[in-house]
Amino acid sequence: MTRTVYVNGEYVPETEAKISIFDRAFLFADGVYEVTSVLDGKLIDFDGHAKRLQRSLDELKMRSPVTTEELLEIHRELVRVNEIDEGLIYLQVTRGAAADRDFAFPPEDTPPGIVLFTQNKPGLANNPTAQKGIKVISFEDLRWGRRDIKTVQLLYPSLGKMAAKEQGCDDAWLVEDGFVTEGTSNNAYIVTKEGTIVTRQLSNDILHGITRAAVLRFAREAQIKVEERPFTIEEAQNAKEAFFTSASAFVMPVVEIDGEKVGDGTVGDMVPRIREIYLEEMRKAAV
Ligand code: PDD
Repeated sequence: MTRTVYVNGEYVPETEAKISIFDRAFLFADGVYEVTSVLDGKLIDFDGHAKRLQRSLDELKMRSPVTTEELLEIHRELVRVNEIDEGLIYLQVTRGAAADRDFAFPPEDTPPGIVLFTQNKPGLANNPTAQKGIKVISFEDLRWGRRDIKTVQLLYPSLGKMAAKEQGCDDAWLVEDGFVTEGTSNNAYIVTKEGTIVTRQLSNDILHGITRAAVLRFAREAQIKVEERPFTIEEAQNAKEAFFTSASAFVMPVVEIDGEKVGDGTVGDMVPRIREIYLEEMRKAAV
């Protein structure tokens, strides 16, 4: 089945989708994005993603070409026509196509660009990796200083991911001034020997994960202690459990960091419990 995608107001087969070579996202990474997961053919935390999109747009003084209601409609239509039961929807809004390459922003009346496409991922929720966990390496965080804005500047995270793969690992945890900021495309956590979840506090240093917000809320509701503070790679290696969260992987155990086992190197009790609560609650609230 040819995938139907949404480009600047039109639903088209992916092979016919076109954007201008002068699109600001292509030339300047002048665009923001969101990734929303789909379970049971429904959107997980659409509201959270729509709100963060608006925040990213506001921070960059960019306009959205559509309203939140229209955005929801486009997401739903793509899920419907592409028959997605489990998968992801990628959405990108850009400052549009200027008349020519120019560092200055294009005139105010330049229409913003918008692209959405689906990724069919059967088995997303029952991912076997959640049973065995993943291995990460540490990697210096050399990204820009506004990581709270979800821009399409993803070259550095991509380099981190490749460095991990070259070492036979799955992902990299980025480290700045001795402390973990986040994963290449996810938020990072540890569980202390006392059973407290520790994750870096919100600031411009990390993306304000939508999954993070939900997971911390559910953890607190389940009377699990949460500490929002920075932690080092060493503390993580000596923790009881470690994990990451993202819209595309939900809650995923980390069992090895820079070749050192976390706990006994197998998936512990807390992370699968949180994953289960997250999936159950989010499925109930899906739209
Ligand atoms: N990435 N931190 C970074 C740097 C991210 O890129 C992401 C998401 C997250 C987790 O945010 P959320 O829980 O809202 O997905 C944290 C998406 C999934 C991606 O780039 O594919």
